[in-house]
Amino acid sequence: MSIKRAKISAVGHYLPEYRLTNFELEKMVDTNDEWIRTRTGISERRILKDPDKATAFMGAEAAKEALEEASVDPLEIDLVVLATVTPDYLFPATACLVQEMIGAKNAFAFDLSAACSGFLYALSTGASFIEAGNAKKVLVIGADKMSSILDYTDRNTCILFGDGAGAVILEESDDDTGIINSIHHTEGDTNCSLYQHAGGSLNPATAETVAARQHYITQDGRAVFKKATMGMADVSLEIMKKNNLTADDVDWLVPHQANLRIIEATANRMGVTSDKVMININKYGNTTAGTIPLCLYDWKNKLNKGDNLVLAAFGGGFTWGATYVKWSM
Ligand code: UT7
Repeated sequence: MSIKRAKISAVGHYLPEYRLTNFELEKMVDTNDEWIRTRTGISERRILKDPDKATAFMGAEAAKEALEEASVDPLEIDLVVLATVTPDYLFPATACLVQEMIGAKNAFAFDLSAACSGFLYALSTGASFIEAGNAKKVLVIGADKMSSILDYTDRNTCILFGDGAGAVILEESDDDTGIINSIHHTEGDTNCSLYQHAGGSLNPATAETVAARQHYITQDGRAVFKKATMGMADVSLEIMKKNNLTADDVDWLVPHQANLRIIEATANRMGVTSDKVMININKYGNTTAGTIPLCLYDWKNKLNKGDNLVLAAFGGGFTWGATYVKWSM
């Protein structure tokens, strides 16, 4: 029996118009453009200002663009998987709202929570449904409105993140291109290095949790930086080894965009030169589940059929992973 393989057949994106620059942040917290650029690589990030719009809206816009590019009718979609840590509501799932917004009436839909690794976990999940023959067309979306959980008085975190979304359509591949395989890892973050403390079932919202600013992200930047640098590089080497890829075989590294220094360390460990690394952190900051599909979108006109892509991410959880994709378009 031949093994089915999923391929990416279209990429869509959504970025809010508003650009929050480092210079604007200088007026909000004790920071400066030079520090942010040299320590993170970020110059500006996009912010969704409209209070009536959130993650579902951005995910739906990205999905609509992908559907249009692939000339796929929303009714053909069997499954919507949406990765996010900033769902519109704790429930129902944001994926259900997107399903309705885009008219994918025949699809079932669910969210997946794996922070900055969310898109890679979702990509593997969507691909598995196609490989098993349980779905023909799948929408995989990474979307986050990080500004909704950022404390704009905390310089440790508010400079890092932005809002945005990316989406891909997965279909069955009819050649040797597509999503070849993935490696995923998890290590429970018992030290609370990267957390949103309140709002869940352990610490439901109260006047006290709000007053203590516990509905915002907190991060021990240095601890996460160490873990992320090691984790992303290790798993990228692991996926190269699994597929017998040398640095020359890798056409593109598609890294999660958390910090330019983490990206450069990963590329160095892989032996991949900087011209083969997708970097847009300068423009968008860290959009959590959005970073990898937003890279694919920004670079899609430079990609050729058969190109070897290594997608790699590390995030809260801790979660991390890498996926080997042979580009299909
Ligand atoms: O995507 C999810 C995973 N997340 C990540 O991968 C993020 C990982 N962490 C990082 O990217 C980095 O740790 C940060 C960018 C968050 C911080 O960079 P760092 O080089 O690790 O800085 P640090 O935390 O060691 O802080 C160095 C100094 C400190 O001052 P002192 O103690 O040396 O006096 C901080 O208080 O920089 C100070 N600092 C700032 N200064 C100006 C921290 N944030 C800022 C700021 N502006 N925004």
